[in-house]
Amino acid sequence: MILVTGGAGYIGSHTCVELLNAGKEIVVLDNFSNSSRDVPEKIARITKKEFDTIEGDVCDPETVRKLFSDYPIDAVIHFAGLKAVGESVEKPLLYYRENLSGAVNLLECMRDFGVKRFIFSSSATVYAADNPMPLTEESRLGCTNPYGWTKFMIERILEGACKADPGFSAVALRYFNPIGAHESGLIGEDPKGIPNNLLPYVARVAAGKLDCLSVFGDDYDTPDGTGVRDYIHVCDLARGHLLALDYAFGRTGIDFINLGTGKGTSVLEIVRAYEEASGKKVPYRIAPRRAGDIATCYADTEKAKRVLGFCAQYGILDMCYSAYRFTEGTDD
Ligand code: NAD
Ligand code: UFG
Repeated sequence: MILVTGGAGYIGSHTCVELLNAGKEIVVLDNFSNSSRDVPEKIARITKKEFDTIEGDVCDPETVRKLFSDYPIDAVIHFAGLKAVGESVEKPLLYYRENLSGAVNLLECMRDFGVKRFIFSSSATVYAADNPMPLTEESRLGCTNPYGWTKFMIERILEGACKADPGFSAVALRYFNPIGAHESGLIGEDPKGIPNNLLPYVARVAAGKLDCLSVFGDDYDTPDGTGVRDYIHVCDLARGHLLALDYAFGRTGIDFINLGTGKGTSVLEIVRAYEEASGKKVPYRIAPRRAGDIATCYADTEKAKRVLGFCAQYGILDMCYSAYRFTEGTDD
């Protein structure tokens, strides 16, 4: 059985669908601090499979210990954590406490219960800003905010855990920019409050829930001057976790693997793709650059292909269309 922490969240919920569709048994641990309580039921509806969801905090040793004694867990996929870059700059200690203690708590319970397979949600944010593109797993590491440092540190903690136990197997997946939603339109990205990320913002502007998109800078050294990112469909990303899980069962030690498409797309290309997919206008204005942003970021996908056999299948239009369908079904 697979323990999925943060399984009610954006990436976690799509991964639960992939796991259940592949016939895996799962148990979800989530405190719903950034997700809705109805997500597990929607996952069950999509997959027509039953599973237990425990409402609780991954940082709480008693909760996690009880979970390991109640369920025959043989691997953990760890999504739960705080993820807002800006908030992490304002509240660094909160980010270090939550993200680090959650991971350490899980790893201690795994050690005590003899569970040896761990898949971790890392991020392209662990790469230093001045690397040449595309980013390979050997590109220089370095972060610019506490959120990024928590990912960096958990990667180092996993290195230590693997060194201390030669039977332990960990895969840190470095995600690029996940967007899109499940084709059912039932689950997707639905941030509380004003979105920080591009796609949810664009979706709300197109739906008339926000007035106008601010494009953060049009004077970058990119083809149209706006920021370029490697957007990957969340369903492709979810499938990457299934492959990583199978891989983790077949070997020991640690691996860091990029999950992206290898293609860069600009902000204005996203705006046009969303307009095409939705048939709606996305009014925008050019605004100053956002502090901390870089011009371009995209993945070298060679290792994911070689090690996992992973190759992203969806294009930008699919991503925008699925995000549009999901947004149409939400009511805030
Ligand atoms: P999300 O916020 O939608 O999902 C996280 C889930 O974990 C939520 O359901 C939340 O309620 C839960 N959670 C948070 N703290 C918890 C705690 N202490 N105990 C139990 N549950 C808790 O985020 P997401 O976009 O699905 O991201 C999942 C993971 O991937 C995170 O670790 C994030 O840092 C990482 N990641 C995300 C992105 C991205 O762009 N979305 C990029 C790189 C890495
Ligand atoms: N952008 C806008 N307007 C907005 C929001 C974003 O122009 O309202 C631009 C940004 O300047 C950037 C691009 O859209 O050029 C993408 O921005 P996002 O905020 O969607 O994504 P980031 O690449 O900045 O950050 C994301 C995650 C981080 C993660 C990072 C690297 O939010 O958690 O990818 O993986 F660390």
